Amino acid sequence: MNLFNVYPLFNINPVKAQGSFLWDDKGEKYLDFYGGHAVISIGHNHPHYQAQLKEQLEKISFYSNSVQNELQIELAEKLGKLSGYEDYNLFLCNSGAEANENALKLASFHNGKSKVLYFSGSFHGRTSAAVSVTDNPKIVAPVNFSERFIKSEWNDIKQLEEIFEAQGSEISSVIIEGIQGVGGIMIPTAEFLSKIKELCEKYDAALILDEVQSGYGRSGYFFAHQEFGIEPDMITTAKGMGNGFPIGGVLIHPKFEASNGLLGTTFGGNHLACAAAIAVLDVMKEENLMANAQQMGDYIENEIKDFPHIKSIRRKGLMIGAELDQDCSEVRKSLLYDHHIFTGNSNDKSVLRILPALNIGKEETDLFVVALKVVLDKI
Ligand SMILES: Cc1ncc(COP(=O)(O)O)c(C=O)c1O
Repeated sequence: MNLFNVYPLFNINPVKAQGSFLWDDKGEKYLDFYGGHAVISIGHNHPHYQAQLKEQLEKISFYSNSVQNELQIELAEKLGKLSGYEDYNLFLCNSGAEANENALKLASFHNGKSKVLYFSGSFHGRTSAAVSVTDNPKIVAPVNFSERFIKSEWNDIKQLEEIFEAQGSEISSVIIEGIQGVGGIMIPTAEFLSKIKELCEKYDAALILDEVQSGYGRSGYFFAHQEFGIEPDMITTAKGMGNGFPIGGVLIHPKFEASNGLLGTTFGGNHLACAAAIAVLDVMKEENLMANAQQMGDYIENEIKDFPHIKSIRRKGLMIGAELDQDCSEVRKSLLYDHHIFTGNSNDKSVLRILPALNIGKEETDLFVVALKVVLDKI
């Protein structure tokens, strides 16, 4: 059997990883400034993470959601404390798309409405409703398409008001990323977020903050929207939550009532996934990683902002978009093949996406800074 060939692949086969470094099958070392699409939050193979997973593996790896699982309770308590959302409830699942799917569904169960508002440049995942609110026609199949999903322009308050005025009574939820990642590190304005919150309250629509990429400390806040002081009805999370172990979650305002069978999953919240997610929170707290994301993000921006070909830097914490005056793909390739550094791109071809682990140090950062300067000087 062959693999279903959907991924364009770099010709690199990593077999080992530690901290912010990877090694391939030829023993070549690589610096990871992308974390496999923002997944690596506490660094590869963190000793505490490894120890917790190994310990759990020796006890029990999985049983379904038909039995007590104290690890889920510990995870919810620790997540509530560190994020500041102690009074919210947690539904555990396996990925970002699944978290969004459940949030959209729960909103609709709650208010009985069926339309969803989303924004240009969005990426919310590839499952049915999640892909319908993703602004990329190439990945929306006819089976996913429906007029119930309404697109509004990013940061455009006037259009938002017009849509609510015309269809507000039918809008079940508004879904928005804390910071758009795939869209090219696009940051919402405070006014835009406040207006969304206000309109959601006025028209009884649920506000869903997709923090799958921008959450878990990446922005320097636990969730990116917390900088703006708004409180969503639901917050979705995945990626950095498990540092590579698949896990996702929905943080749910207490006004949403749970009932048996309303939501569900076979694998979500299994013992190993919880052990991984608890270890991530322990390390984030112990090593003060939100503060480190803020400091190292400031440092990187200061070091690279005046480099040739950099038009602007869009950034919060360690969620960094360097906008070049041209397509970034050659720069990315040169960083990878000539300097052994992983970085990312986005739907905006000129934006180099830089997403290192939250515990990145100055030494690793300087390797990146020096290499980027060499690459940009050569263009
Ligand atoms: C903001 C956002 N939401 C949702 C997703 C989907 O997550 P997953 O690939 O885990 O389904 C992604 C993935 O890139 C994302 O960036």
